[in-house]
Amino acid sequence: MNEAETRLQYEYMQKTKELVDQKSEQTGRRLLACVTTFGCQMNAKDSEKLAGILEKCGYELTEEEDKADFVIFNTCTIRDNANQKVYGRLGLLHHRKKGYPELKIALCGCMMQEMSVIEKIRKSYSFVDLIFGTHNIYKFAELLYRMHTEKDMVIDIWEGSNEIVEDLPALRKYPFKCGVNIMFGCNNFCTFCIVPYVRGREKSREPREIVREIEKLVEDGVVEVMLLGQNVNSYGKNFEEPISFAKLLERIEEIEGLERIRFMTSHPKDLSDELIEVMAKSKKICRHLHLPLQSGSDRILKAMNRRYTKKSFTDLALKIRKAIPDIAITTDIIVGFPGETKEDVDDTIDVIKQCAFDNAFTFIYSKRTGTPAAKMEQCDSEFVKEQFDRVLTCVQETAGKRVGKLTGMVDEVLVEEVNEKEKGFVTGRLSNNVMVHFPGDESMIGRIVKVKLTEAKGFYYFAEAVQ
Ligand code: 5AD
Ligand code: SF4
Repeated sequence: MNEAETRLQYEYMQKTKELVDQKSEQTGRRLLACVTTFGCQMNAKDSEKLAGILEKCGYELTEEEDKADFVIFNTCTIRDNANQKVYGRLGLLHHRKKGYPELKIALCGCMMQEMSVIEKIRKSYSFVDLIFGTHNIYKFAELLYRMHTEKDMVIDIWEGSNEIVEDLPALRKYPFKCGVNIMFGCNNFCTFCIVPYVRGREKSREPREIVREIEKLVEDGVVEVMLLGQNVNSYGKNFEEPISFAKLLERIEEIEGLERIRFMTSHPKDLSDELIEVMAKSKKICRHLHLPLQSGSDRILKAMNRRYTKKSFTDLALKIRKAIPDIAITTDIIVGFPGETKEDVDDTIDVIKQCAFDNAFTFIYSKRTGTPAAKMEQCDSEFVKEQFDRVLTCVQETAGKRVGKLTGMVDEVLVEEVNEKEKGFVTGRLSNNVMVHFPGDESMIGRIVKVKLTEAKGFYYFAEAVQ
């Protein structure tokens, strides 16, 4: 842990606040900042850190981008459409900046770790004021200070870092649930995936730091935590005294007042029997496992460098279902990986049927420059669309059947929000992550309520509260 760095960043927050306060005074109102998040839960967590720092720097946070004096996009680059969205939104911001030159614009996150993106922004989006990447997000206060005091675009991208800086502020989106980083980066190098290049090598946070953070969150009213890592099953392997992910879960389970523990993502190749045992006997670990399959074909799995087979995956999924019968297993599937044939997709469909996933996120393969798969012979896009539809239909059928089996059961929901579409309803999640809507009001938010599941609607339920 680097306490000197934490102190330095707090000094920068103070210095930046003086500048922001001055501007607020000149403007006659507090300056507004908006953090826009693209991508996964890891980014959502990073955005809470950005918002915390912005607040300490004197900004008021807003969700209305078109009213903000400072806008930051926390970007994603997992698939090309994520990048396209950012460029589209930047175009809109440019238009606004022409009418309001005081507007400050910053970009950070995974997309900024790509050289080609930086070049493009320098050339075609020169109105951006600040760019930084995934490794130096803890320097945000310092970078903001530079943005306010330097004339030119501030660009600071690092290739990697071994640093984990603790105890920086965060502004949580929900009072009752929170993501907690347990590790950063990924060492797996699946051949389609850009994450290892933009998030760097795997590094785990110390267990005592994780437990300390969660204890503080619980004191603050949090009842559910989501432990975040690209591959949580390899947590703690690089410590001098290694500790398994299962052992970490046992330590977290002991925290009094914490009601629910979730985690993501698990790599099938590293999922241990120890973890299954700990989950099976746990009172707090949610009945949900996200276990990305990617493909059911041995040939494609090998080309993807996934290091498991169709059989070892299905054996694992069925073993988990046997040990924890009420568990929901969800997955990720990629269709159209280079060289994929109809027969390969048949294998994927076969695994979906055998494992009866409770839900599956199905993606069309997107070529990412710099990854090994980008250099392989790509599939025809019409063929891919057809195969994608086949997979999607199968997922909807199997998942619909599986989720539908819960009809009539009584279970607990953690209420998350008032339902915006259905008046007089609230929305929450079961332990198995299935979404539930039932009659209720704002006062229920953050509470765990017993409900009867009355009507299945595909992947979600309508329910009614029971005493
Ligand atoms: N194309 C399509 N989907 C991808 N994913 C990762 N890389 C790509 C890519 N290049 C998917 C995987 C992963 C999820 C987070 O995103 O299924 O599990
Ligand atoms: Fe990407 Fe594979 Fe790492 Fe997941 S495990 S982040 S798919 S490289």
